[in-house]
Amino acid sequence: MDENKAFEKIKESIYNKFSLDLNQYKENYLKRRLDARMRSLQIISYEEYLKYLLTKEEEYDNLLDKLTINVTQFFRDPDTFEEIKKNILPNLMRNNNTIKVWSAGCSTGEEAYSIAIMMEEISETLGILNYNYNIVGTDINEKSLYKARLGYYEGRTLDNLSDIRKKKDFNFDGKNYIIKENIKKKVEFLKYNIMEPFKRGYFNIIFCRNVIIYFTRELQNKVIGYFYDSLKENGIFIMGKTETMLMNFRDKFECLNIKERIFIKRV
Ligand SMILES: C[S@@+](CC[C@H](N)C(=O)[O-])C[C@H]1O[C@@H](n2cnc3c(N)ncnc32)[C@H](O)[C@@H]1O
Repeated sequence: MDENKAFEKIKESIYNKFSLDLNQYKENYLKRRLDARMRSLQIISYEEYLKYLLTKEEEYDNLLDKLTINVTQFFRDPDTFEEIKKNILPNLMRNNNTIKVWSAGCSTGEEAYSIAIMMEEISETLGILNYNYNIVGTDINEKSLYKARLGYYEGRTLDNLSDIRKKKDFNFDGKNYIIKENIKKKVEFLKYNIMEPFKRGYFNIIFCRNVIIYFTRELQNKVIGYFYDSLKENGIFIMGKTETMLMNFRDKFECLNIKERIFIKRV
């Protein structure tokens, strides 16, 4: 089989398995990730890899892991969280009795839990007991979501967590830091592909960081449009630090902080 055809077939198999349309991801990126997976298996052609994939059920998950880079951290880009904590959330919390947050492309849950930790801290500072908020973390990767729901963490993902936060918000079992129940119960994790629209006019804040960077420009446009629709009026949208707001949305999202990629929905 010709290599281009085999590559198309690999994408087709992933679509059939996960309903994930890889044609919407940047091709260079896809090929780089796929080549890396093939190298680790010492496979040198797409045709050979396709055969391998079709005979080994568990390889689908391995490939999805490779394609949907799931690297994340608690308080990734700490300055962004500081800015949100200082200048965004307190006002939102004063003006709304309840806040709904979406961590889109949440990977193993660190971003969603970091938001919950921050919300608890602000409630305490503002003297609001039991402030009503909830956070939904969504991802396409079931394995990542399983880990997120479990809430056990070790290693580099904890690098930006202060000792105070480790002590206050986690239990330690000698190996893992385990997220405490009061934080855990604020976060719900769901499987969801951001290529589809989600709850209209529902969220006060959407975090989508380091996810759409791998998408084609066309898909980025579509997905940012869905985020716009999912936000309430004056809702906040936060992108990854290396991502840029597309021209089409410059009058729909006003920039509040360009360095931290924080935007507000304007209608
Ligand atoms: C690099 S992680 C980013 C995690 C977190 N937002 C952060 O910035 O630390 C990218 C995540 O996006 C998820 N992802 C990629 N494509 C997706 C899609 N179409 N729908 C939902 N999640 C997707 C991946 O599975 C992965 O967990």
